[in-house]
Amino acid sequence: MSFKALISILSVVGAIQVATAAATHKIACPDGVHTASNAVCCSLFAVVDDLQESLFDGGECGEETHESLRLTFHDAIGFSPALTRQHKFGGGGADGSIMTFDTIETAFHANGGIDDIVNVQKPFAAKHNMTAGDFIQLAGAVGFSNCAGAPRLEYLHGRPPAVAPSPDLLVPEPFDSVTKILARFADAGFSPDEVVALLASHSVAAADHVDPTIPGTPFDSTASSFDSQVFVEVLLRGTLFPGTAGNQGESKSALQGEIRLQSDNDVARDPRTACEWQSFVGNQAKLQSAFRAAMSKLAILGHNRRDLVDCSEVIPIPPPANTRAHIPAGLSRRDIEQSCRQVPFPVLPVDAGPATSVAPVPPS
Ligand code: HEM
Repeated sequence: MSFKALISILSVVGAIQVATAAATHKIACPDGVHTASNAVCCSLFAVVDDLQESLFDGGECGEETHESLRLTFHDAIGFSPALTRQHKFGGGGADGSIMTFDTIETAFHANGGIDDIVNVQKPFAAKHNMTAGDFIQLAGAVGFSNCAGAPRLEYLHGRPPAVAPSPDLLVPEPFDSVTKILARFADAGFSPDEVVALLASHSVAAADHVDPTIPGTPFDSTASSFDSQVFVEVLLRGTLFPGTAGNQGESKSALQGEIRLQSDNDVARDPRTACEWQSFVGNQAKLQSAFRAAMSKLAILGHNRRDLVDCSEVIPIPPPANTRAHIPAGLSRRDIEQSCRQVPFPVLPVDAGPATSVAPVPPS
């Protein structure tokens, strides 16, 4: 080997070592407790503690967590390249506009009930001097970390203040057709498979406004665990309305005390999405990785990844899964409406005992 070749190999090795050191080097934060990969992440540890203590009731996967996760979506999905191509303002995505211009955006029909969590979060964002866009995504990721079985979500920091409210009609409605839903998500950059992955959020969710006579009615029987149970239960033959009949965007559910969105019902059965829907049943690893990946995209809609700093290290590590996919008591495999033609439905244990009835998510 020539001397020149040796020198160039050594310099490449040196450059790799420098890059590795830069990637792993942590700085000590001024709080004397934490270390961080970037100094701007340091101030977020105190925000996370405050959120856990004062917003999420000491670290619960309860109502505020559910609402905060929903808010990440309703802020971010206000983003339409199609509108921009028509020389209209297509929204700023995950920019906090739903909080900054709350009087406008919370009045949109699809944002029904979101004013509750916006009003609760707004003073926290101000107190910690964070932009609304950063705060909404941070709170969503921190709250979600309280749900057993959740993946630890990515959190990127540095969204600038929102400049304008999102246009109306960009947030999907539960009475929209699957075609309309897929088209809306495609406009925002999501494939049908990613839409199904995002709907895993309805594993930790309840509805207050679909049937206002029964607030806090969950979408599955395990609303404080992030699991595939919602993918099982939405596929069960619908037999009842848990409250009143005739609500817009509601389909019959299979369990007393459980509400089913028409959109979830239809996505679970549509040939374009049914096999992806079924693929999550009992597959916690796929559920976690697909949801995490889709949420990483959602959380930075309208931004360039390179302009943001990775502060994921401030997000708490979620507790492990505490449930296993099963058919609820009182029902059987025959109640599953098999909708994926190519792959048989997985064999699941059937719960014993009297028919399952699901309790509401308590208000906090
Ligand atoms: C087709 C798309 C979607 C539709 C039509 C839809 C619709 C709805 C509706 C109607 C509710 C009930 C609101 C209420 O009455 O209180 C709800 C709740 C919820 N949604 Fe979605 N959603 C969609 C996608 C998403 C996505 C992508 C996420 C997050 C990534 C999300 C997260 C949630 C959560 C966490 C709740 C529960 C809120 C709570 O318990 O207070 N949704 N959704």
